[in-house]
Amino acid sequence: MGNCTENTVKAAPDLSVNIAGVTLKNPVMTASGTFGSGMEYGEMIDISRLGAIVTKGVSDVPWEGNPTPRVAETYGGMLNAIGLQNPGVDVFIERDLAYLEQYRPGTKVIVNVCGHTEEEYLNVVERLSDTNADMLEINVSCPNVKCGALAFGQDPATLCGITEKICRIAKQPVIMKLTPNVTSIAELAKAAESGGADAISLINTLTGMKIDVERQRFVLANRTGGLSGPAIHPVAVRMVYEAAHAVKIPVIGMGGIACAEDALEFLLAGASAVAVGCMNFHDPETTHRVIDGIEDYLSRHGCSGVREIIGAVR
Ligand SMILES: Cc1cc2nc3c(=O)[nH]c(=O)nc-3n(C[C@H](O)[C@H](O)[C@H](O)COP(=O)(O)O)c2cc1C
Repeated sequence: MGNCTENTVKAAPDLSVNIAGVTLKNPVMTASGTFGSGMEYGEMIDISRLGAIVTKGVSDVPWEGNPTPRVAETYGGMLNAIGLQNPGVDVFIERDLAYLEQYRPGTKVIVNVCGHTEEEYLNVVERLSDTNADMLEINVSCPNVKCGALAFGQDPATLCGITEKICRIAKQPVIMKLTPNVTSIAELAKAAESGGADAISLINTLTGMKIDVERQRFVLANRTGGLSGPAIHPVAVRMVYEAAHAVKIPVIGMGGIACAEDALEFLLAGASAVAVGCMNFHDPETTHRVIDGIEDYLSRHGCSGVREIIGAVR
């Protein structure tokens, strides 16, 4: 496997990874929307152990989100149609970013950005450019109001265009977060790279639907919702593998991580870092178990660092 030796390495393995010039002390972060801005979780776990926190998506003005019900349980996961409810970038900078400052620089802060139009994305990116955010993650799964319901991330030319514009004004490295609701993830990964993205992350949720058969009604008021959790993990691993082999920029893998083995699959498939999403709801200590499990795996396999196993699957 990779360059790992058969011998037992006595020193603790080096868990650090580099994403577009930003060093993370370990490759484990939270997935956007599943950890808020850390305030509630800070009472339950030691946030300073994380490589990075990725915040809930923020838009230029407050968004109310979708009508309820907007979450539902499924086999091995959940559906959500929260609709990116958030207080807007001004409140976010004053309240959430200020709160997160206590964890920097040991734990990096990655701000997730959403919008309905190019202008909305650019406004948020511009507002964030003079803050201490370490990186920006752009959620291109939002419906593009100027292109019907098609998300920005579903058309390669649109994705490349918005990536170029964002990268022109962003002062932090830009991660484009890809939607899995496409035919060829490799094509979209290449479009983000050619637009100048510093990294890509994937996968966002898979569009699903649930029906209450007794009431003969949609379970979610929005009818459709995004599927996340262990049920999507094998799909996510396949997509991360395909994306990582299509581009040279770093890839951040996510989708259904519940334990260290799930995270290791993403690393072996070619991801340089991983994000834990809705399993944070089930067990707030999931990220800690994943960090410990990766370290234990590297020691058992005689690896001096996590970088040795990135993309090592044969
Ligand atoms: C309740 C909820 C809210 C989410 N909000 C966002 C968001 O604001 N921005 C974003 O890019 N992704 C959002 N996501 C997607 C997750 O970050 C992640 O990509 C997806 O859930 C797959 O990971 P998981 O299976 O580990 O949850 C959200 C997911 C859930 C479950």
